[in-house]
Formats: sequence, structure tokens, C-alpha cells
Amino acid sequence: MKILGIETSCDETAVAIVENGRTVLVNNIISQIELHKEFGGVKPSVAKLAHEEVIDSLIEKTLADVNLSFDQIDAIAVTLGPGLVMSLLVGFKKAKELVKEYNKKLIGVNHLFGHICSNYLESDLEPPFICLLASGGHTQIINVETYIKYEVLGSTLDDACGEAFDKIGRLLGLPYPGGPNLEKLALDGNPKAFVLPEGKVSKYSFSFSGLKTAVLRLVEKLPENFNKADLAASFQENVTNTLTKKIISAANDYHSKKIIIAGGVSANKTLRKKLLEQSPVPVYMPGLKYCTDNGAMIASAGYFLKDLNQDIEMLDVFAKDPSSIKLKISSRL
Ligand code: KG4
Ligand code: ZN
Repeated sequence: MKILGIETSCDETAVAIVENGRTVLVNNIISQIELHKEFGGVKPSVAKLAHEEVIDSLIEKTLADVNLSFDQIDAIAVTLGPGLVMSLLVGFKKAKELVKEYNKKLIGVNHLFGHICSNYLESDLEPPFICLLASGGHTQIINVETYIKYEVLGSTLDDACGEAFDKIGRLLGLPYPGGPNLEKLALDGNPKAFVLPEGKVSKYSFSFSGLKTAVLRLVEKLPENFNKADLAASFQENVTNTLTKKIISAANDYHSKKIIIAGGVSANKTLRKKLLEQSPVPVYMPGLKYCTDNGAMIASAGYFLKDLNQDIEMLDVFAKDPSSIKLKISSRL
């Protein structure tokens, strides 16, 4: 079964075709990073226009890249939320147009569910497992019982993990997005140079705002020419220690036999290394290109959600209020 996935929830226009939830036939992404750099973050009105400008040609190119036509596509999966509503609607409208024109099934996908499914791409991973989902908008520990049954064990109480990377990146004068740029800078730094506080919150919850404030205060006190690489490395050390500790402790508590990670921050090599070194159970992680937003994860999610009953009217309601999708589509996300 070949599913075309469309993802426009934030600043990437992404279209992919995935067979049976796992085999990526083609995965195209047009990033808007250059457009948003001057704002230091994503500007929704700019994102919407940029998605509109490229969506038609990107879908055409994606099919052409693998010599397929819509006749050979079985369904269309599209991100319905959470994300920037203006951006989401570009993908949703296009998907709706296509399913009407070509008489296909439309599958609405929760973006976070999509991130989890990025782990099924080019892999034979099967649930159950414990998942750490760390993106620009969310940080959660999720107990994944089956392909479509989940329980969120804990979430961040304030900033998302990727958001913390982005804010500290900005403070260090790095371009948007902070995460990958901070990781690069940290390569030249000493992770033990600065001792930073750990968020004191309950077991599966996270808090990054105290850490952010501590870094701010520290920078105010340091001389102007302080070693930025050292601070980047110390910040990254602190965050990745917390993430590693929490997901391993959840896996132990739930007697989970596998740990997986997902979301943009799962691309962080220090996090990946620490988990591989410290986890008592096997760790699975998405390929680097599937960590940040992409269409393949949405197409994969579509495959696992294909038998749930969704009709276009219901999806229309979700599209107007993307937060409602979490209640209906994957009952506990
Ligand atoms: O999953 P994603 O692409 O978009 C959301 O759903 O939010 O995640 C983007 C976030 C950004 O905050 C970005 O700074 C962070 O993931 N990120 C990283 C790395 N690559 C992306 N954070 C730390 N290290 C990285 N290598
Ligand atoms: Zn994402």
C-alpha cells in the first residue's frame, strides 16, 4: 500500500511516498529556514505563503521522482495538528482537493504520532516501547502499547526541549534554528565548564525554564568574551543528561524492552550516544533525516491509522481546531 504524506505544520513543506508504513520510496522537503532567519523564529504569515508557493510543484515532483501517478497511490495522509494553523491549512486544503479529484482516502495525522512513526521508517521496529518525544513544541514520555494505543506518562511543564535549545542558541548569537547550530558550536566546548541546575520536577515531567534563566543570569555575570562553545557544551550536557535519565527510568518502571526517541532533538548526537551507552535495553532512533519534520513520517502514520474511521467532515472539524485531533484520532496522545 503506497501512501502519499503531506506535512506543512511549521516551516518545512514536505511530501513523501511510503510503502506499507516502512519503505520510503521518496522523501522531499523544502525548508523555509532561510526565510525565517531574519525573524529569529518562524513567522506564521511568511510560512503560509511559502507553503502555498511550493506545495503543488513539490507534490508533482515527488510523484515524478519515482515515476508514479495518482492512480498508483492508495491514500493521502496529511498533518492536521498540532502546529501553526495557517500552515496546517495549506496542506489540509491541498490534500482535500487531491482526494476529491482522484477519489482517494484521506487520513488525518497527529504530528506527534507522526514523529513516533518516523521510527518505523526503514526499520522493523514493533511496539511496545517507551518513547521520548522531544521537538520544538513538545517534550513527552509516551508509553506506546500498540501501533495505535498510547499513554502519555509526562510532558514538559514549561518550554519544550527544542525550544530551550533555540532560545539558548539565540542568546549565544547563533542563527535559527538553535538546536543544530548549538550542537555544532558545542563540539569545540568543554561540557563540564559550567555547572547548570537540573529542573526539579516529578518523574516523567520536564522543566527547562529554570535552566534557561540560570544560563541568562550566568551570561550577565560573565565577561563579554566568555567561551561560548563551553557554555553551549555545558547546556547540551545538562539537557541530554536529563533526557537520558528520565527515559531510562521510565523504561525501568514500565519494564519496557525497548526505548525509542523521536522529534527534532532526537537528531542530537550527544543524546543518541548517551542513550546507546547507558540504556539497559535496546535503543531505536530514526535516521537523522527523519528526526526533524518530514513527509515520510506522516505517510507512515497514515498507514497505521488507515483503518480508523475518519470522514472528511470530521477532518474538517479537526482542521478548524487542530487541538481536538488529539482526542479523536489517537485517543490518548
Ligand atoms: O520535530 P521538529 O523538526 O519540529 C517540531 O515539531 O517542533 O523539531 C524542531 C526542533 C527545533 O527546536 C530544533 O532546534 C531542534 O528540534 N533540533 C535540535 C537538533 N536538530 C533539531 N536540537 C538539538 N540538537 C539537534 N541536532
Ligand atoms: Zn515536528
